Amino acid sequence: MDQVLCAYCVLKNIVIFIDTVLKACGYLCPLMDSYQKLLEATEYLQEFNREDAKIAVVLGSGLGNFTKDIIITGEIDYSLIPNFPISTVEGHQGKFIFGSIDNKPIIALAGRFHFYEGYNTDDVVFPIRVLKMLGVQTLLLSNAAGGVDPSFQIGDLMIITDHISFAITNPLIGANDERIGPRFPDMSEPYKKSLINKAKEIANRLNIKIKEGVYFGVTGPTFETRSEYRMIHALGAHAVGMSTVQEVIAAVHIGIDVFAMSVITDIGIRDDDNVITHAEVLIAAKDAEPKFSNLFRELIISLN
Ligand code: HPA
Repeated sequence: MDQVLCAYCVLKNIVIFIDTVLKACGYLCPLMDSYQKLLEATEYLQEFNREDAKIAVVLGSGLGNFTKDIIITGEIDYSLIPNFPISTVEGHQGKFIFGSIDNKPIIALAGRFHFYEGYNTDDVVFPIRVLKMLGVQTLLLSNAAGGVDPSFQIGDLMIITDHISFAITNPLIGANDERIGPRFPDMSEPYKKSLINKAKEIANRLNIKIKEGVYFGVTGPTFETRSEYRMIHALGAHAVGMSTVQEVIAAVHIGIDVFAMSVITDIGIRDDDNVITHAEVLIAAKDAEPKFSNLFRELIISLN
């Protein structure tokens, strides 16, 4: 049995290798093209999507507790889903969750795939494409981010109004599959204004102080140097993080409306000598989580 499994793994890795090489050369691999992989994952997940969810949430570092607000009808470990990458970061559960909030069907992804973990861009955005194929129309993304705006404090929530992608590999590089989306997607409004306005109204009603700003996407995994934080601010961003940008590009490409929010977990431009650690980021995100959950919950309920 072990030998059969081993032979299977070797074969699969050869196919993945050929697929990667062909893709890098601009061809879609006939053996296992990305679309085929998406179909397989979607087919597997479809039977759990009994309520036909139109809204999905991606939970960033330290924000996994949001799942306690969901009446869960199905919970699938990423490792069980065909062709799904496996999450390796502390603070990410790695589960595809089906359920509802106040009778509104939703899908929650507890755990995402970061470029810095060594995944290729196809893997990073794989779950977003699967969501669309499952019928999702609106995507709410969350992340932990470092604040570079001088008015920001740890624990602030920032609605992302736009992003700057800094040396991040665009997930659409390579042959374009028209079944997924167009070759040259417009990015003039990646974060839907109507969703931003709705979230602001809700924050106002709930008395939650909210910031708005531009998210600066980096690959990580290093936190930024002091000079880099200052540069990011000078370039017009308000917060910096290691996720989200590639997911947003893939969502826009495939035609999903996006809303995204950062929880400010550390302050980049500061006078003291302290270092920034992942543990500190997780603690700050957990502390801000009730406020974040409240806002996301109400936003989901308000959506048509
Ligand atoms: N920089 C980049 N990514 C982050 C940070 C940061 O300061 N905080 C949380 N994610």
